[in-house]
Parts: sequence; structure tokens; C-alpha cells
Amino acid sequence: MTLILDGTIAAASIRMHIATDVAEYKKKGHRPPCLIAILVGEDGASMTYVGAKKIACEEVGFIGEVRRFGADISETELINEIQKINLDDSIDGLIVQLPLPKHISEEKITQTILPQKDVDGFHDINMGKLAKGAADGVKPATPYGITLLMKHYGIDVYGKHIVVIGRSNIVGRPMSMLLSAAAPYGNATVTLCHSRTKELSSFTKMADILVVALGKPGFITAEMVKDGAVIIDVGTTRVVDASRKSGWRLQGDVDFDSVFDKVSAITPVPKGVGPMTITGLMMNTLEVYKAKFV
Ligand code: GUN
Repeated sequence: MTLILDGTIAAASIRMHIATDVAEYKKKGHRPPCLIAILVGEDGASMTYVGAKKIACEEVGFIGEVRRFGADISETELINEIQKINLDDSIDGLIVQLPLPKHISEEKITQTILPQKDVDGFHDINMGKLAKGAADGVKPATPYGITLLMKHYGIDVYGKHIVVIGRSNIVGRPMSMLLSAAAPYGNATVTLCHSRTKELSSFTKMADILVVALGKPGFITAEMVKDGAVIIDVGTTRVVDASRKSGWRLQGDVDFDSVFDKVSAITPVPKGVGPMTITGLMMNTLEVYKAKFV
């Protein structure tokens, strides 16, 4: 029987624990955790993601606020807004939804966020701490969410061979660092593959756990995976689907039907990794909040 690693179920359970924690802090007289999301412009997907983050905040008892700015805001004005939030002690976490309009440097904006409030985990300080295996940095939200998902379903990573495909700074690279760290829920042997890897199948076939973040729908097929492997599919590409009212559906990087009978566990797309990114964000916000009271 193949286990479906359902992100909506894991997310609901973890968020319930977060809500319980928040309620206890409030009972002791503390203010609730506060997460601000900055949204620039009118990108449809970004508006959906930010809306989902705000709802998730409300569900767990956080204050979740969206600060919206027109696509014509200057880089300097946006930096000033971030600096105001950096100085505001009543705000625990800040994310700036990407992508940003072309005239604004995403790199500059990411590095302006105070590392202690960077609950996406994109700041160089947090990435550097992750690279060193230090325990006190903010973990990148998607890789962190993936570890929470595997943990929820009792998947052990200690000493396993994990193959990660994709070297992006948001998923693949930090995922490889998190899983190989000498830390709880680390200690895996990790191979990081990418678009220039030769004989990719020779690596994927060795994987006890395969994490795929490539952006190529249906790329991983049954011949490329080991019997009994665990498959984490991070891909979410919109593909044409005439049977849907919208005309499209989301497809992962793994050919789900092809690999299903061969693997021991797999994430669906959608409702696999997707809900766990927001859960990672919520956990990060809770952790930076709690760190203020120790
Ligand atoms: N755009 C797409 N994914 C993300 C994310 O995880 N964080 C932010 N800030 N922007 C995104």
C-alpha cells in the first residue's frame, strides 16, 4: 500500500498545535504573534498566496496583516517600509511576496529584512547559518515544511540516502543543507542533482527519499525510482486541461500514476508540499515570537 503524504492533513494537525501554543502565551498575558506580508502590485498568484497566508495566521491566532503597495512603488520607498517594520517590536515576522516588479531588486529587498524577522528564511544570514549547521537561524519555509510533513507521517531520514533534484536558493539547496545537518531531523546522506547532472537516473534510482523541485511536469517516471522509495514532489506547473472550467490544472514534476505502485509514500500535487510551505512559515513565526520570551 502506498502512503499518500497529504499536506492538508499534516498542516491541519501542526497548525492545531501552533494554535494551542499561542493560546497558552495569550493566557499568560502576552500579545499574539504578528506576521506582516508585503504585496506589491496585482499579480494574481501572489494575491492568492498572500490571502492564504493571512487566513492561516487567523486560524492559529496570529495577527496576520497584508500591506499592499502599487506596482509603481520605488525601491527606496519599499526599503523604507521594511525598515519601519524592522524597528517595530510588535511585529515578529515579515515576508515580501515575490516576484517583485522589475525595477525593484529582489536581492536588495530580501537582504533588507531583519534576519530575526525573516520568516521565509531567505536572508544571507539565515542561509549562512543553515550552511554552517547552526541551530539558531530561521529555516527556509518550504524545506522546513517538507521536513514537518515527513515527520508527521513517521518518515525517518537519519542515515538515509536522499537525492534532491534542483539547486534553487528557495528549495533544493537549502533542502540539501537541512537534511544533511548534524541536527534533529537531519543526518541524512544527501546528493544534490540539477539540470546539468549527467546520468540523472543513476542517482534517482539510488534514492531512499527523492525530493524533486525541477519545474518539469511529469519528468520523474517509474523507471527512475527505487522500489519502496519515498517521493516528495515540489513541482507545481500549470498545464492545459480542457476538462477544467479554468482550462488548467497543477501538475507536479513526478508522473504520479506511473510511480504510484512502485513507491512506499508520495506527496500529491496539489495538496502535498503546497500547504506545508505556509505551515513552515507559521512555525518560523511562532519560533521567532517564542524566542523573545526566553
Ligand atoms: N513567491 C513564491 N513563493 C514564495 C515564498 O515562499 N515566499 C515569498 N516571499 N514569495 C514567494
